[in-house]
Amino acid sequence: MQPTIREADAGPPAHTASKMHPTASDVLYASGPLVAARLSEHMERRDYQGFTVHPVTPTIGAEIEGLQIGGELSESVLAELRRALHEFKVLVFRDQDIDRDGHRRFASCWGPIERHPFTSLKASSGQTDADVATLVRHTQRGAIENNWHNDVSWHERPSVGAVLRAVEVPAVGGDTLWVDTGAAYDLLPESVRQRIDGLWAEHDWRQTEEFGQRMTPDEIGRFHQAFPPVEHPIVWEIPETGRRVLFVNTIFTTRIIGLGQEESDELLTLLYRHIRRPEFQFRLRWRPDTVAIWDNRSTQHYASSDYFPQRRVMDRISIGGVRPVGIGGK
Ligand code: SIN
Repeated sequence: MQPTIREADAGPPAHTASKMHPTASDVLYASGPLVAARLSEHMERRDYQGFTVHPVTPTIGAEIEGLQIGGELSESVLAELRRALHEFKVLVFRDQDIDRDGHRRFASCWGPIERHPFTSLKASSGQTDADVATLVRHTQRGAIENNWHNDVSWHERPSVGAVLRAVEVPAVGGDTLWVDTGAAYDLLPESVRQRIDGLWAEHDWRQTEEFGQRMTPDEIGRFHQAFPPVEHPIVWEIPETGRRVLFVNTIFTTRIIGLGQEESDELLTLLYRHIRRPEFQFRLRWRPDTVAIWDNRSTQHYASSDYFPQRRVMDRISIGGVRPVGIGGK
């Protein structure tokens, strides 16, 4: 059974009774408990033996204590870490004595490391360690990550996850926020879930102006040829957990396939506003020597851009992607 919000069980509020669908405000202003399950019904809750897990919210985000991830990790510890990532979607490791190579070693435990697709096209520039994306942000090079997104959702195979290492953190500010898009799906009104379950949406990197601004016209042309818009199911069923998650985001999703622009905009707005509810969020306050890994399928993230003129430098390694599959393998 999927949990539902109170308003959904009770049917639409009286003032919208004549409307065909709940509107964004019906969903956004629904009050009452928003309590999602941390695990899908297919997963069993078990204790962890190899480290201590400190959940930060009921469904998303946990700090892992008692592990140095730069060293050798046994198969049993890795299996437990995989289980913990399925359970909490974002894992945080504090006080890590880890360099770039250790970062790479740890990331490669989760699957093939994936260069950012654009970096691959630029590989002729001679950059040798393009598997690590260094995000340097300061007053002359502002942030572009302060919008909710899944990394590279515009790719046929969006990355399954990423490992982010704090290289230089501002004294205050520069937090990263994640949302649990499985909890968001579960707590949508039943009528909205029925409306979106079989639908697909288009994702296009050119939707984000900042991407284009940092490219030459020649690069834009070449990259568009290599990475044209793609279509993904709006609801991705994660094979390992059976969890259904919402897979549309403000940066890259352009439209819902088969709907008119107005209806598509209305439905996407409703989903975006719902996804952003604080009950689904986890906020990480970075400290030096902190590393975080997230599941890029079951979460969206947002890097808070409140720290200028301080600098913020992060190293990100992405884990190779898979093609999203909708409900029932469709
Ligand atoms: C990202 O958007 O992948 C980076 C997040 C961050 O810098 O906190």
